[in-house]
Amino acid sequence: MKLLYKFNLVFILVGAIGSAGAGLIARDMLQQQARDEVLNTGRLLIDTALAVRGYTAGQITSLLQSQLEQNFHPQAVPSYSATEVHKALSVRYPDYSYKEATINPTNLRDKAEGWEVDIVQKFKQEPKLEEYIGVRESSSTGRALYVARPLRVGSPACLACHSSVEAAPKSLIEKYGPANGFGWQLNEVVGAQVVQVPMELPLKRADAALRLLLTSMLGVFVAVGIVLNLMIWWFVVRPVTRLATLADRVSQGELDAPAFDRGSRDEIGLLAAAFARMRTSVNKAMKLLEQG
Ligand code: HEC
Repeated sequence: MKLLYKFNLVFILVGAIGSAGAGLIARDMLQQQARDEVLNTGRLLIDTALAVRGYTAGQITSLLQSQLEQNFHPQAVPSYSATEVHKALSVRYPDYSYKEATINPTNLRDKAEGWEVDIVQKFKQEPKLEEYIGVRESSSTGRALYVARPLRVGSPACLACHSSVEAAPKSLIEKYGPANGFGWQLNEVVGAQVVQVPMELPLKRADAALRLLLTSMLGVFVAVGIVLNLMIWWFVVRPVTRLATLADRVSQGELDAPAFDRGSRDEIGLLAAAFARMRTSVNKAMKLLEQG
């Protein structure tokens, strides 16, 4: 097999294995990065909801306390303000969602659906679990990552409105009715904050980055291949072929064949010089033989 064929075979083989390995590692890394980015956004949204809840509980609830007797203002309820803030956000970011998914909610818009019920049950069964992350396919927004955290009845103050119809303020019953949102126990997990963040775009971006990486790797590979081929041809194949042709001619008795110019001082130059010396010795020996 010719030298260049051998070289190209090894070069392509090593290149293909190397690019496949690098491609797989890069794909995993980029996908992981996309997922982390989405997860961070999800956590940010949940923490924003918690901050809004904290603000309402700390600064708004007490302001509206005095009006509770006559009129129930849901604006004083932390859960309401967190849900409303995210509802406003979803006008600009329709694929993102936030919900305080609850099994037995005061406001039925917070009622947990099938897959959310499963998450709440998981939090109920595993009291130590503080966060649950998953991916789900939705027909409207495509693939989305969800981040969920448990909603616990953390203080006896919650029971003023969520324990029983009798204990709850009348204005609350007038507004929400006596049917649901009661019977909660202290420290019980009643629901889960669930945030959904679309994954399609970051995953598409990761794919595009991978394609760019692979194409540029292929470009570099082809360019290096061409340059190496030219170099091997110029520095090795061409001079060796010329030397071989010359050796052929000399061996067939053509003693006056032109000398091989040995311009370079590399290994091929050394070979040419050695060949020239051998040729001179052979010539001398022939002359001696002829004279004899
Ligand atoms: C003054 C009465 C009141 C108190 C006190 C109160 N809540 Fe609520 N809570 C409500 C009302 C009313 C809603 C429904 C708000 C809406 O319309 O979105 C609600 C909603 C919620 C929700 C969303 C699910 C649902 O029922 O719609 C959660 C979770 C929740 N509350 C937890 C708590 C926790 C935890 C505490 C104690 C820290 C607490 N609440 C204290 C009145 C109250």
